[in-house]
Amino acid sequence: MIMKDFHSNISGFYKLSIDERQKLLSNLVNLDPEDLDILKELGYFTPTQIDTLIENVVGSYQLPFGLAFNFKINGKDYIIPMVIEEPSVVAAASNAAKMARKHGGFQSDDVPPIMISQIQITNLKDIKAAKEVLESRKQDLIKIANEQDPLLNKLGGGAQDIEIREIQTNKGKMIILHLLVNVLDAMGANIVNTMAEAISPYIEDISGGKVYLRIVSNLATHRVARSKATFDKEMLGGEEVVEGIMNAYEFALADPYRATTHNKGIMNGVVALTLATGNDTRAIESGAHAYASLSGRYSPLTKFDVDSQGNLIGEIELPLALGIIGGMTKIHPMARLALKILNLKSSSELSQVCAALGLAQNVAALRALAAEGIQKGHMALHSRNIAKVAGVPDDLIEKVSKKMIADKKIRVDYAKEILQKINDGENL
Ligand code: MEV
Repeated sequence: MIMKDFHSNISGFYKLSIDERQKLLSNLVNLDPEDLDILKELGYFTPTQIDTLIENVVGSYQLPFGLAFNFKINGKDYIIPMVIEEPSVVAAASNAAKMARKHGGFQSDDVPPIMISQIQITNLKDIKAAKEVLESRKQDLIKIANEQDPLLNKLGGGAQDIEIREIQTNKGKMIILHLLVNVLDAMGANIVNTMAEAISPYIEDISGGKVYLRIVSNLATHRVARSKATFDKEMLGGEEVVEGIMNAYEFALADPYRATTHNKGIMNGVVALTLATGNDTRAIESGAHAYASLSGRYSPLTKFDVDSQGNLIGEIELPLALGIIGGMTKIHPMARLALKILNLKSSSELSQVCAALGLAQNVAALRALAAEGIQKGHMALHSRNIAKVAGVPDDLIEKVSKKMIADKKIRVDYAKEILQKINDGENL
């Protein structure tokens, strides 16, 4: 129960220790001792570590860390860590990977780690002249940018090129300068933001314009991952299932409502690996969906065909700005562990794995939809979750869950009813 004099007008919360914040919160929203116990469970984080990650920390939020198996990508075997709350996703990915494995696994292309930093140039009197001068000073701009990160430059990365775009806005024409930076094994947002800020005064000087935004674009069109695989017809369930998948694909191509859910299935895998490795899920999501809309119509990120033997050929293409250094990748203990399990040599390799996982996830979802429907696979885990929510003790969860599935009534009220019957000594 929330206190009568509850309010959210709180300042200086960040100055308190985690303990003090928990007490204050507890008083504000009237927490039970059990709630406080959960808050105090910081897992593998020390209070100092977790308190430096974000502001106003009061606790740590845990999610399952699972493993997908059977992946062979460019001839190498991978065990893929996934962090996700949704039942069936991990098993589905492993199943689809097995179907691809029979035909050599996934072929993923190299992913050049090129990020775009956008610089918005406004108040230009002569757009054409400004474009020309910017183009002519390209090498100066690249040089200033690279002075910001000599190590990156020394290792073979750094600013490489610029693109000059003209856009029409409600406030008139603007020039958008794209600085293209090879960020090597990082996700790269920090690197490119620093570079964009550093070159902006020079841009204002030479163009005579006013620079406003200087920020990474999450539509990383120079960092696109592509993966391809052949999925075995018999393992998928035969010709009719393959036909069903092809119909599902055409449905997604023709209908953005379906394409959204189709891509959601892909993102089940992509985001789970992104999160497991401590990468920025929001950047990946926004980039993927923008990429899906680039043609002017929101479209599926995968495409399908059938080979002469009736096997399903799947392909995926999406921007994947994933890093294996920097950000949370080395700070978060589980992200570190995830990278160790993956045994990667580069950020490109992580993106190659991620694209293959997205494709596998999509095939698994379409297979289930085309064959038995998605609910059957979900039911076993879902019913166990429902039993837990209903307060069924751990030793009875399996029994209650099975009964709910058998009776096709997977609901909290029914789980409680079954538990009551068990407690009353009824033989179920
Ligand atoms: C559920 O998380 C994902 C699916 O809806 C994807 C799809 O419909 O293709 C099953």
